[in-house]
Amino acid sequence: MNVVLLGAPGAGKGTQATALTKLLGVVHVASGDLFRRALSKNTELGLLAKSYMDKGELVPDEVTIEMVLERIREPDCAAGVLFDGFPRTLSQAEALDDRLAVEGKAIDKAVYIEVSEEALVKRLSGRWICRDCQTPYHAESSPPRVSGRCDVCGGELYQRADDREETVRERLKVFFSQTLPIVDYYERQGKLLRVDGNQGIDEVSAAIRSQLQVESA
Ligand code: AP5
Ligand code: MG
Ligand code: ZN
Repeated sequence: MNVVLLGAPGAGKGTQATALTKLLGVVHVASGDLFRRALSKNTELGLLAKSYMDKGELVPDEVTIEMVLERIREPDCAAGVLFDGFPRTLSQAEALDDRLAVEGKAIDKAVYIEVSEEALVKRLSGRWICRDCQTPYHAESSPPRVSGRCDVCGGELYQRADDREETVRERLKVFFSQTLPIVDYYERQGKLLRVDGNQGIDEVSAAIRSQLQVESA
C-alpha cells in the first residue's frame, strides 16, 4: 500500500506517521526529515536544502524528486510507503505517479489532515523534535515524560529553525499557493480522504484509521 499524508505545516503529519506506518506495515518517507538528515551530515544536498528551508520556501523540484525517488528504490520500501511532506507540487505528484507506474504500482490513498491556520501557528511555536528519531512533541498538547528528552529513544529535543513565526507564515503561504492544488489532483483521481485535524491527537488517529478502513492492533 502506498499512502500520501497531506497537510499544512504543523497539521500533524509527523505525529500521525509513526503509528500509521506500523499499522499499515509500510515505511515512513518524510522529505523534510531526509533534508534535515543530509544537513546534519553537512552534505552538499543538505546545505542546498537549508538555504530554502530557512526562508520557508520549497527546495527545487528537481533536487527533491531525485532524493525521494532514490530513497524509495531501497528494498525496505518494496512493501509500501507512507509519504510525508512529499509530493508538495503538481510536478512532484506526477513524477511520483510515473515512477510507481513503472513498477506496476500507484498511490492508493491520499489523507488530507485539515487544520485551521490559527491552530497551525500555535502548534509550530510550541513544537520540540527529537534530534535522533524525529518524533515531534508539544510543550502543551504532548509534552515528553522527561523534560528535553525523547520518550521513544531518549534523544535530545530541539526546536526547528524554521518554526520561528516569520518563517512559519511564509511556509503557510507556500502551502496554500503551491501544495493545495495537490488536494484537487488526488480528489480528481478518487483517492482523497479528508480528516478533521482540529481534534486531539488520538481522535485524529482514529479518524485516519476509520477513513482508511484499518483496525488498530
Ligand atoms: P517538512 O519537514 O515537511 O515540514 P512541514 O510540511 O512544514 O510540516 P511540519 O513537519 O512542520 O508539520 P507536521 O505536519 O509534520 O506536524 P507535526 O506532526 O510535527 O518541510 C520542511 C521544509 O523542507 C519545507 O519548508 C521545505 O523547505 C523543505 N521541503 C520538505 N519537503 C519538500 C518537498 N517535497 N518539496 C520541496 N521542499 C520540501 O506537529 C506539529 C506540532 O503540533 C507538534 O508539536 C505536535 O506535537 C503538535 N500536534 C500534532 N497533532 C496535534 C493535535 N491533533 N492536537 C494538538 N497538537 C498537535
Ligand atoms: Mg513533519
Ligand atoms: Zn527519539
